[in-house]
Amino acid sequence: LTAKSNGFGYQQTQVMGKDEWLTPPELIKSLGEFDLDPCSPVVRPWDTAKKHYSVQDDGLTAPWDGRVWLNPPYGDQCWGWLNRLHAHGNGIALIFARTGASGFQREVWGKAHSVFFIFGRLYFYHVSGVRAKHNSGSDSVLISYDEKNTEVLKNCSINGKLLIL
Ligand SMILES: C[S@@+](CC[C@H](N)C(=O)[O-])C[C@H]1O[C@@H](n2cnc3c(N)ncnc32)[C@H](O)[C@@H]1O
Repeated sequence: LTAKSNGFGYQQTQVMGKDEWLTPPELIKSLGEFDLDPCSPVVRPWDTAKKHYSVQDDGLTAPWDGRVWLNPPYGDQCWGWLNRLHAHGNGIALIFARTGASGFQREVWGKAHSVFFIFGRLYFYHVSGVRAKHNSGSDSVLISYDEKNTEVLKNCSINGKLLIL
């Protein structure tokens, strides 16, 4: 994205990159209300929770409170965020289904309460609020580290399969 195309000016583009792919808003809605999104864009097209942290707050180290929606920065950065969600113990994470990666083994297979495999690839959104032309190219999973959020995954309307660990 360039400063011209995203409409938010240069300041926003400096902190943007391939990590700025937003969750389809209807997916978050179908999982109920969240208190905190600790990794949200500097300028967001819609709310994903009652409170948001951006890169300017460093949501990885800032205090977390309540039920957390977590679609963390991509790549191996995501494991540290999952580790934090496990320690926090209340929330749902969305990551790619890299089920054999060592981070997945450690932070998901080793710690999670449940994993929900989403059928079909998601279409993420640009920070402008426009849906991506192409799907994400990988399968995605939702992860819960606690019983209550597993219950939400069990009852949600998303097409997929829940695996309780
Ligand atoms: C994959 S996007 C998900 C955005 C949003 N949570 C959602 O679900 O639509 C990850 C976001 O994390 C933000 N981010 C990256 N590093 C961060 C940090 N240290 N603290 C807070 N947010 C950060 C990025 O700017 C990006 O908006």
